[in-house]
Amino acid sequence: MDIAKRSLLVPIMTFTALTVLTAAGLSALSTHSAERIDANQRAWDMRQINELLSATDYDNDIFSDVIVVEGTAPDAQLLGTGAPHEILRARKNGQPAAAILRVTAASGYSGPIELLVAIYADGTVAGVRAARHRETPGLGDRIEIERSSWMTGFEGRSLQAPPLADWAIRRDDGVFDQITGASVTSRAVTSAVRDALQYFEAHKTPVFAAPDVAGGSSQ
Ligand SMILES: Cc1cc2nc3c(=O)[nH]c(=O)nc-3n(C[C@H](O)[C@H](O)[C@H](O)COP(=O)(O)O)c2cc1C
Repeated sequence: MDIAKRSLLVPIMTFTALTVLTAAGLSALSTHSAERIDANQRAWDMRQINELLSATDYDNDIFSDVIVVEGTAPDAQLLGTGAPHEILRARKNGQPAAAILRVTAASGYSGPIELLVAIYADGTVAGVRAARHRETPGLGDRIEIERSSWMTGFEGRSLQAPPLADWAIRRDDGVFDQITGASVTSRAVTSAVRDALQYFEAHKTPVFAAPDVAGGSSQ
């Protein structure tokens, strides 16, 4: 190797080593951040679920009694996407008490809106929460329970009350108020809650009978 080439070797190797180290550092940092965001989201979800169901409604560990259902047709339509969706199961004395479905309102104003829909075993809505969304601050973000009580309008409703045809916002001749200036968001969420109820009605028995994701007992 001539002198000119040799003199270039050291800076090139140093630069390469620094690049590799920086990339590895950034990758570790990004993994750590993603894990932290996931953990924060999980903690938030757990708080919401604890609000949606009363502690006297169930006596099992709902956070371990979880199944994942595939959103294959025609269920993809009812769950909002073809992606896997988690369902948490609440039981009392071994009997089905409620299910919390993670569903997606696909047609939000600014993209999909992820919802937690808690449904008692008799098909009545216990409550709904917006888990993730990108709706506009001051408009569509009023689906958040911290910002308005709009979501509470679904509590106690079922596919019988109101009848299916009335499961729409007032603007569309249904019975649910829309958030002022945010009909698109309100419509998307109302349809998604209705669809979650329809999914639950069609699959209630297998939902409670399936083994949990860890393969353990579903009791
Ligand atoms: C900057 C901007 C942000 C908006 N954000 C939302 C939103 O988050 N959700 C929504 O439903 N409509 C949003 N809209 C309004 C929609 O364009 C549409 O007018 C509205 O959903 C219709 O509802 P309304 O009939 O109650 O006004 C937004 C409009 C603008 C200009």
